[in-house]
Amino acid sequence: MLNRRALLGAGLLTGVAACTADTPAPKNAAFAPYDWTSVRAQFALDPAYAQFAAFVLAPAPAPVREAIRAHRDGLDADPEYTPAGGGSPDQTVREAAARYLGAEPGAIALTDSTTMGLGLLYSGLVLRPGQDVLTTEHDFLATHEGLRLLAARTGAKVRRVRLYDDPAGASADRMVAAVKEGLGPRTRVVALTWVHSSTGVRVPIRAIADVLAEANRGRAEHDRALLCVDGVHGFGAMADGVADLGCDFLASGTHKWLFGPRGTGIVWGRAWDAVAPIVPSFSQAAFAAWHNGGTPGPNTAELVTPGGYKAFEHRWAMPQAFAFMSAIGKDRVRGRTQELATRLKDGLAGMPHVRLATPRSPELSAGLVCCSVAGMQPAEAVGRLHGQKVVTSVTPYNPSLLRFGTSIVTNPEQVDQAIKAVEGLR
Ligand SMILES: Cc1ncc(COP(=O)(O)O)c(C=O)c1O
Repeated sequence: MLNRRALLGAGLLTGVAACTADTPAPKNAAFAPYDWTSVRAQFALDPAYAQFAAFVLAPAPAPVREAIRAHRDGLDADPEYTPAGGGSPDQTVREAAARYLGAEPGAIALTDSTTMGLGLLYSGLVLRPGQDVLTTEHDFLATHEGLRLLAARTGAKVRRVRLYDDPAGASADRMVAAVKEGLGPRTRVVALTWVHSSTGVRVPIRAIADVLAEANRGRAEHDRALLCVDGVHGFGAMADGVADLGCDFLASGTHKWLFGPRGTGIVWGRAWDAVAPIVPSFSQAAFAAWHNGGTPGPNTAELVTPGGYKAFEHRWAMPQAFAFMSAIGKDRVRGRTQELATRLKDGLAGMPHVRLATPRSPELSAGLVCCSVAGMQPAEAVGRLHGQKVVTSVTPYNPSLLRFGTSIVTNPEQVDQAIKAVEGLR
C-alpha cells in the first residue's frame, strides 16, 4: 500500500504547493560564503588535521547536516513524514541539481552514487548488433566493470585506448587524438572519466565532445556515438555546467567534491531514449502504466531513476548541498581548489624524493594531486603524514599512488604544512 510519502516521492500527488524551488540559504547565521574561514567552519572536521582526503566520502557542511537531521527526526517521528511545503521532494532535488548544472530537471536521474549511475547507464544502454564501446586505460573500476558486464551481456566489443604514458606529461591534443583514433564506425558508447582518480589528470571532455559531434555527423540517431562521463572528481570541484562539457551523459555522486549527503548522486543525460530502465522506478508514469496494465512509454530520466524506499533524509538534503556551493560561487570554489592544488604541486615538484604524477597545469588537472615517494609504499606515506596531522589517501589502482585533494576545507597554510610533512618523508 502506498503511503503519502511514497506518492510524494513519486510525484503522484500534485496540486499541492511544491516545496520552495529556491532552497533556503544555509541557516547558520555566522556563515559568510565569501570568507574561507567561515566556509571551513561549517564543517565538523577535526580542526587538528589538515584534511586532504575529504573528497573520498565527503563530510557535510552545517546546512546539509541540519537538513539531514530534520528529515531524519521527521521520519523517526512519523514514517509518513514529508518535507514542509508539499509537492514532490524528489522533484525539488532535481530542480536544485538542474539549476546547479544549467540543465532541465527532467534530464536528471537520482541515484545513490557514481557507481550506481554508471551501472544504470552501462546496463541500460541498448546496443545493436555490431556496435562497440570505446573507453580508456585510465578509468576506475566502476567504468571498467560496468563495461565488462555490458560486454558479457551483449557480446559488444570494448576497446581501451591510452591517453598518456606519463600522466605528468599528458597533453590535451594527444588525449583528444587518442579518442579520435580509437573511434570506430560503429562505436556507440565512449566511456570516459573527467578527472582520473589514478593520476589527477583532467580530460578535455569538451574537445572530445566536439570530435564526436563531427564523427556523428551523418550517422543515424541510433548509431550516434554517445559520450558518457564519470564526472565525480570534477563535479563540485570545477565550475562547468553540462553545456560546457558537451557530453551526452554525466554520472556523479554528490558525496565527494560537492560535499552533499552520503549515499546520493545524479545522472544527467540528453539521450534517455537510448537507455532502458534496469530497476523499476516509482515515477508517476510507471505507477500510472502499472495501474492501467500498460507500459510507461518512452524512457526518461525519471523512469531510469531506481524506485524503492531510500534513505530519504539524505536524498532530500541534497538541495542544501547545491545551495551551499552556489552561495560560495562555483567559480570561486573552482579557483580555490585549483589555486591550492597548484601551490601543493609547486611545493612537491622541487623535492628529489617525490615524483609528481599530476600535471602542473590547471588546464589538465582539478583538485587531485597524486605522487609517489621514492622507496616508500603509498600506504606508509599516508600513515607517516597522518602522524604529522596531514590526512591523505592511497589511489585504489595498481600501481597505486599517494593522493591529496585540495578543496574548500583546506587552506594555504595547511598546504604548506603538507609540503613540509612530505619533505620529512625522505
Ligand atoms: C573515478 C571514480 N569514479 C567513481 C568512484 C566511486 O564513486 P561513488 O562512491 O560515488 O560510486 C570513484 C571513487 O570512489 C572514482 O575515483
